Amino acid sequence: ADAYSWPGEHHIHIEGALTPELLFQLASSNGVTLPTDDHAFQSVSTLYERYQHFESLDDFLHYYYIGMSVLVTESDFEALAWDYFQHAARDGVVHAEVFFDPQAHLSRGISYETILSGFKTAQTRALEEFGITSELICCFLRHLPVPDSLAAFNIPELQASLTNGSVAGIGLDSSESGFPPLLFKDLYQQAAAFGIRRTAHAGEEGPASYIRDALDTLGVSRVDHGVALVQDRELMARVAEQGTLLTVCPWSNVFLKGVRSVSELPIREFLDAGVQFSINSDDPAYFGNHYILDNFCAVQEAFNLSVDEWRRVCEAGIRGSWCSEQRKAEML
Ligand code: HPA
Ligand code: ZN
Repeated sequence: ADAYSWPGEHHIHIEGALTPELLFQLASSNGVTLPTDDHAFQSVSTLYERYQHFESLDDFLHYYYIGMSVLVTESDFEALAWDYFQHAARDGVVHAEVFFDPQAHLSRGISYETILSGFKTAQTRALEEFGITSELICCFLRHLPVPDSLAAFNIPELQASLTNGSVAGIGLDSSESGFPPLLFKDLYQQAAAFGIRRTAHAGEEGPASYIRDALDTLGVSRVDHGVALVQDRELMARVAEQGTLLTVCPWSNVFLKGVRSVSELPIREFLDAGVQFSINSDDPAYFGNHYILDNFCAVQEAFNLSVDEWRRVCEAGIRGSWCSEQRKAEML
């Protein structure tokens, strides 16, 4: 195999692949009322227009949680994932590791089984029709009370999915500032005791110390975003030495005002320091419909990576994937 056969994706929130088109369609078929006091929800085009002006992660998350409230039935979850896999196939994706936020659905009375069954059907179809392999990663929401995440983790069906391999591991997402990794120490220790793989969003809006805490306190084997690592050279050297994968999301950082342009991202610093990172889309339907290939292109335009540097990025992604060793060997 060669590097050209790979884009793999490790940081895509499936609820962030909900396009305004599908959002309005499901709101209508499920009889879900969207906010009437927000002009953005008047039409597909006003919603797309609003998505061009997020002020921060939290401003985006406000729309993200309203959006996903239209997901009700198993076939809704399937349609959402299938929409993503079609985009992924067009972009040449061969392997995708997909986050989902069960707490945001369980709290609306949707069963875990409904969510998972819908995704599984789409995953099977993506494998059959496109040859795309995929894994699911169950994320916990850091803006909710910690006991809420522990209660979710202890739902028998959810825990079984993590221990029987139908879900590859856990993550931590949602509002970052003010919600340090330390809060979720118990959750991550419980997961570690089961031998469950762990990642966490850290260093997106939060400081580099959140990356250190995710590594040291939560025991994560990779770090989602992690761009704040550049603020701590000592930690950066350690992350490079350990070979921990960062899942960088260029367009996301621009849309959520972490940076003014992709060229401000520490891509060159990471390459020079030997930090392992992959390039990802995060929430493509909310961030200008920039799926993974647009993110690769933006990085290339800003940093003009050599073929050898792209090979390093791709190989880092494969090595950091949460798939079987056999699948890794096929992709390398
Ligand atoms: N950061 C934190 N939480 C999220 C994100 C993100 O980029 N996308 C969806 N949930
Ligand atoms: Zn994310």
